Amino acid sequence: MTTLADRPGERLERLWAEEPGLGTWLSTVDHKRLAKKYLYTALVFLVLGGIEASVMRLQLAHSNLKLLDPETYNQLFTMHGVTMIFLFAVPIFSGFGVYMVPLMIGSREMAFPRLNAFTYWGFVAAGVFMYSSFLIGRSPDGGWFGYTPLTDKAFSPGPNIDFYALGLIFLGLASTGAAINFITTILKMRAPGMTLNRMPIFVWGELAMQVSILFAQPALTLATVMLMLQRH
Ligand code: HEM
Repeated sequence: MTTLADRPGERLERLWAEEPGLGTWLSTVDHKRLAKKYLYTALVFLVLGGIEASVMRLQLAHSNLKLLDPETYNQLFTMHGVTMIFLFAVPIFSGFGVYMVPLMIGSREMAFPRLNAFTYWGFVAAGVFMYSSFLIGRSPDGGWFGYTPLTDKAFSPGPNIDFYALGLIFLGLASTGAAINFITTILKMRAPGMTLNRMPIFVWGELAMQVSILFAQPALTLATVMLMLQRH
């Protein structure tokens, strides 16, 4: 008969387990629970982006339909692009990574579990902030790429682009934090024997993506800070 002492893995799982329930679901720093939160939240944003796409397609179903005025159409395609790229595509990969990477490299957790929770909530805050612009009918309308001079104060005087720029700054901080977390986990927390050459291709993919983010994202965040400064 097997005893508890024979199954150390099970004992560890019991020691590390969190109480079920909403309180711990909200405050968790556990990588599997945070990963599920990433995946569910990204899917919610996919649905929102899908609704925006459907409304645009309705407007485009026939020529000269008057379903949306041009300004609302601009807001919808910008929010659709921003949502699909920054609030769905990037976080869905983070979600899979946060779930799988520690399991695949034989680590018990991500290197910085609290940073993991911080970056998740940063992503949620950025998304909610950008979507709150719909409440005042002034959503970002300069395209998901946000190029100047179109997004300068002269051509985009309202608060629309401020929602975009501030949201992207929050998101940029979150993605940079997540990149540091992934890179440290993969480089420093592999189980004995899990050499870089034996690492699963998924983990290699995640490492390559996160190194790219670490180099690219701060430049984008700084450019967005400069856009904000120039606008004000
Ligand atoms: C059935 C699914 C989808 C439909 C029907 C759809 C439809 C559209 C439409 C109508 C536009 C606006 C084109 C225009 O008037 O300029 C657009 C733009 C865009 N879509 Fe989608 N889309 C879909 C899925 C996606 C997905 C999955 C992504 C990315 C992961 C995505 C990313 C974008 C981007 C980046 C833009 C450009 C936004 C901009 O110019 O600011 N779309 N889409």
